[in-house]
Amino acid sequence: MDSILVKGNGPLNGQIPIAGAKNACLTLMPATLLSEEPLTLTNAPRLSDIKTMTLLLQSLGTEISSLQDGKVIAMSSHNLDNHVADYEIVRKMRASNLVLGPMLARLGQAVVSLPGGCAIGARPMDLHIYGLEKLGAQIELRDGYLHAKAPGGLKGAEMELSFASVGATENILMAATLAKGTTVIKNAAREPEIVDLADCLRAMGAQIEGDGTPDIVIQGVDRLGSATHAVVTDRIELGTYMLAPCIAGGEVELLGGRIDLVGAFCEKLDAAGITVEETDKGLKVARKNGRVKAVDVVTEPFPGFPTDLQAQMMALMCTAEGTSVLEEKIFENRFMHAPELGRMGANIEVSGGTATVHGVEKLKGAPVMATDLRASVSLILAGLAAEGETLVNRVYHLDRGYERLEEKLKGVGALIERVQGV
Ligand code: UD1
Repeated sequence: MDSILVKGNGPLNGQIPIAGAKNACLTLMPATLLSEEPLTLTNAPRLSDIKTMTLLLQSLGTEISSLQDGKVIAMSSHNLDNHVADYEIVRKMRASNLVLGPMLARLGQAVVSLPGGCAIGARPMDLHIYGLEKLGAQIELRDGYLHAKAPGGLKGAEMELSFASVGATENILMAATLAKGTTVIKNAAREPEIVDLADCLRAMGAQIEGDGTPDIVIQGVDRLGSATHAVVTDRIELGTYMLAPCIAGGEVELLGGRIDLVGAFCEKLDAAGITVEETDKGLKVARKNGRVKAVDVVTEPFPGFPTDLQAQMMALMCTAEGTSVLEEKIFENRFMHAPELGRMGANIEVSGGTATVHGVEKLKGAPVMATDLRASVSLILAGLAAEGETLVNRVYHLDRGYERLEEKLKGVGALIERVQGV
């Protein structure tokens, strides 16, 4: 297994291009299942999770070509010949469950293994099932698989999610585009990836209003057509690289960065004493002098502070002046990076869903273990400013979510390299 070696090397300066969003692409790809006509995605990120989704869709009968070095994904699902999403693929990635809604809507049946993915909590699918059942689906769990059918087709319905789940909103939204009549999803997730999915579905001919608000209204149509859609900027990759100069010092411009994607996060950076400036190419982040100030963070659904930036923010707080309290409200088991940061000299106490970080002046390099996608990158960020060498082991998680990470960080002056595993 590969490792990544980082050496603390002082301030970072230059530009980092931000890719299309992994989480948007992983829901846009299954949207191909809704239509007999082609769907082409541009600005796609080059990641192993995208390869996993490609394999899953191909196993269902979708034809997929990867063009322009993977930045363009051309898909056609005119001839779906399988409705079973196999455990061997689904276990690698939770987002595989996003084929359930579209397959059910198009084929009237779907069998999908319960998912795997990052070990950051229980992550059930009850809300997906609730919403699809409201649309008239019959769903049962047998042998680790969800068996779903809608013999008479799906019918529009009004429903309210007890929690604004991103995945459930996406599955229900996709299914409802082909349901008969009107669907209203109350307490829907408002993440930019939902808006991006709705934009793409509209380009395919769907009738959707209210995405980006808690109430999404979908008027079902008989069929969807063809579209070409550009994947929205990855706000988590953006936030991650915004933190690099905050931790290591210097000034970095994030190409393609948009403040509306990272509003709550920018407010925290501002409170910590970091300047974020909008430029004509994106966002510029600078930490010119001294340590940052400790700030408290509570993770929330969008537009709140994203759970997917909590680990990276903790890496920043490790060397902040003062004590910071980070509260994780989305996933119950998302502090696995804390003991690893502790190996680097961080002073962190975890109690239930709360981590208290007492800032220290400097971290020290150490061998550490990557546990999940965002935890892994927090260790790399911490290593950028630590004294000596940090070896981050088990980095396959990183390749799921960060394209060309070493190249991007090297480009702004980081000393970072991949050590090939045996
Ligand atoms: C998506 C993102 C993930 C991000 C998360 C929260 C993708 C591919 N992944 O994950 O990176 O961290 O949103 O912003 O887009 N829940 C239930 N029942 C359900 C569904 C979810 O209880 O049926 C719970 C989960 O256990 C979790 C919380 O709701 O505690 C949030 O989950 P959800 O918003 O569904 O996240 P994902 O779509 O899995």
